[in-house]
Amino acid sequence: MDSYLIQVNGHSNRAPVLDIHLSTNGNSLSLGKVKGRKPRWAVRASEMSKKTFNPVRAIVDGMKVEPNPKKAMISLSLGDPTVFGNLPTNDEVTQAVKKVLDSGRYNGYAPSVGYQSCREAVAAYYNCPEAPLEAQDVILTSGCSQAIELALAVLANPGQNILVPRPGFSLYKTLALSMGIEVKLYNLLPEKSWEIDLKHLESLVDEKTACLIVNNPSNPCGSVFSKSHLQKILAVASRQCVPILADEIYGDMVFADCKYEPIATLSTNVPILSCGGLAKRWLVPGWRMGWILIHDRRDIFGNEIRDGLLRLSQRILGPCTIVQGALEHILHRTPPEFYHNTLSILKSNADLCYAALSAIPGLQPVRPAGAMYLMVEIEMEHFPEFENDVEFTERLISEQSVFCLPATCFEYPNFFRVVITVPEEMILEACSRIQEFCEMHYQGAEGAQDMECDK
Ligand SMILES: Cc1ncc(COP(=O)(O)O)c(C=O)c1O
Repeated sequence: MDSYLIQVNGHSNRAPVLDIHLSTNGNSLSLGKVKGRKPRWAVRASEMSKKTFNPVRAIVDGMKVEPNPKKAMISLSLGDPTVFGNLPTNDEVTQAVKKVLDSGRYNGYAPSVGYQSCREAVAAYYNCPEAPLEAQDVILTSGCSQAIELALAVLANPGQNILVPRPGFSLYKTLALSMGIEVKLYNLLPEKSWEIDLKHLESLVDEKTACLIVNNPSNPCGSVFSKSHLQKILAVASRQCVPILADEIYGDMVFADCKYEPIATLSTNVPILSCGGLAKRWLVPGWRMGWILIHDRRDIFGNEIRDGLLRLSQRILGPCTIVQGALEHILHRTPPEFYHNTLSILKSNADLCYAALSAIPGLQPVRPAGAMYLMVEIEMEHFPEFENDVEFTERLISEQSVFCLPATCFEYPNFFRVVITVPEEMILEACSRIQEFCEMHYQGAEGAQDMECDK
């Protein structure tokens, strides 16, 4: 059917008085409906886009920073282990993808939850007697970020709330607020190696609580929960009947003196969506491969949540087919030495960094046990020149060309986060510049008081 628009009394410089749409239907002409028109252009960004806010971007972009031109910039801010080239992925991982590409067998659309054989590969890799998994319990996604997005979207309605760690990875809040889900922050305790303040956590639960997010090992803390602490978290979730969204993207990335326990292996009844992916452990964040593992021993999620996840996965095909094709090989053929090597580099950097920063007056680093980060407290009373962690880190850039993320980005003022994936010599150089900076600005108890009086 063709359609014609006739404009009556329409001058080039005046609005038309009448528009009539004529439709040709076969040979006969029929008068179409007169349509209302908007008087002028009014294209506005959606409510959802306005509710979408990435605090890291907002804070970092707002920092007034020109590095010191006499010193080369050292960035300890990005959680991307590939930026310095010192941590390449394993050859098996790269070869697996090359083979898949050459085979030409993975160029088409895959099922929205991923190829069955690839879901089987992930299930087989994570399956264990304490937390059995089959292919149907695995949903492949575009990175762990999409896994978190789908998990949140299936568990929470607008108007409900979720419990999120403070300090914590900012994506949880960014996604939740854009979906109209309220965020309640529960405290982590630096003096207890960032364990959860369980009383505080439990006090936040109400009838609108849709899920509890547990991030272990943690970004930004580099902490790893013990088995007994995880059991206590599960006890709260069980008492309050709140499902868990476990962000385990740093799963297994723990230093030798510590053990990683997937939370699902300790749960007998609490239903858990565990989100993970290739980004960190296999050092390929750009490949965008993640997954949700559905743990539901008591059939509490049942078909309802599985079906919801399936529907949500059908909005956009997330996981890349080439990487899916390589998954089985990547998971089952990457040699153990590769993981050990990455972890020994991270542990050595963590030790160096912790020792160097502990010796600096006015700083209190918290020793990490895994992941790729270390948090450092700034004893602000000894740096009265600076209003807060953002100003402290800003000046650290302009004077020493060292960039650390202010922990305000993680809802935790007066700390900063250091990334420990950088080459050793850079860590050492950065720590010595941080020392010079602190010595320059540190005020002992008396000096700090004088400054207070001057204000
Ligand atoms: C705690 C945490 N969860 C999830 C992600 C997102 O992972 P991906 O790059 O696979 O989307 C990150 C990335 O830095 C992270 O630190």
